Amino acid sequence: MSKKKIVFSAIQPTGNLHIGNYLGAVRNWVELQKNEDYECIFCIADYHAMTGDKTAQDRRDQIILMAAELLALGIDPKKSTFFVQSHVPEHTELAWIFNTITPLAELERMTQFKDKSKKQAKNINTGLLTYPILQAADILMYKGNFVPVGQDQIQHVELTRDTARWFNNRYGEYFPETEALLTETPKIMSLLEPTRKMSKSYGLSHVLELADEPEVILAKLKKAVTASEPGEKSPGVENLLLLLKNFADETVYNNFVEAEKNGTIKYGELKETLAQAIGDYFADFRENRTQYLEDRSFLATVLSEGEIKASKIAKASMKEVRHLIGIR
Ligand code: TRP
Repeated sequence: MSKKKIVFSAIQPTGNLHIGNYLGAVRNWVELQKNEDYECIFCIADYHAMTGDKTAQDRRDQIILMAAELLALGIDPKKSTFFVQSHVPEHTELAWIFNTITPLAELERMTQFKDKSKKQAKNINTGLLTYPILQAADILMYKGNFVPVGQDQIQHVELTRDTARWFNNRYGEYFPETEALLTETPKIMSLLEPTRKMSKSYGLSHVLELADEPEVILAKLKKAVTASEPGEKSPGVENLLLLLKNFADETVYNNFVEAEKNGTIKYGELKETLAQAIGDYFADFRENRTQYLEDRSFLATVLSEGEIKASKIAKASMKEVRHLIGIR
């Protein structure tokens, strides 16, 4: 049997994907899945999303939406294992086992825990704290070697390495050392506050969603913060140029960079060019997304096939883990 390296990643179902999610992680997923050296496993992390404030109906809708969007972007269930986390409840069992080997202080120092505790001060549930343990369980269940994620998740991937080490030291060598895989442009900033990461938690006008129609993209970009003087270095302009680099032709990008250097750049023109480029880039995506969303039974079939594939691996891992820790 071939011994391919395992690529594992997951994303929380929290509504429409935005350009930061795409460039930070999902674009890389689609690329990695074409590489014959890797066995890819991608997961919709609905248990993780439960740490936020959502109704049961939101949850149901958002899982389906995320499945449709990822398929529309090119995640191919024939090439990759693509499933919903909660469909494989072994994840929570492994997370419990990891709970018992993880020092509390390691969780308390996680940046995301501190940030989220501030953002949702009225709902600092225990899940926010133990969140990275479940993430380690996701990855190690499949003996993940590489984890393509955005920059904000590196700390969690490092904790996954620690978790593997704590487990292996105590119960014998079993889990591999996982590594994060970063894309070239891991960090896209908010349109309105370009010193902060692009995130829907500041409001929809801060982000470009992949499903946004061309006129919406243009309207949002028109409001994006630039600089007061043409050519002046500013995080807003840098952010727009970075987007242009990713979605427009190289010559178009180079012309704007040149114009920025010599102070002749016109921000209105930059925004229009960028809006056009992004609208075109995601035209097929928007169409596929609509089609998938209209075919719920197809989506359900894809996810249940993924569940079968993932469950098989998870069941085998748990059998071994239970034996190693002495409960079976
Ligand atoms: N915490 C990740 C995020 O918010 C999502 C996630 C859950 C994940 N489990 C994972 C990412 C396992 C990589 C591997 O983006």
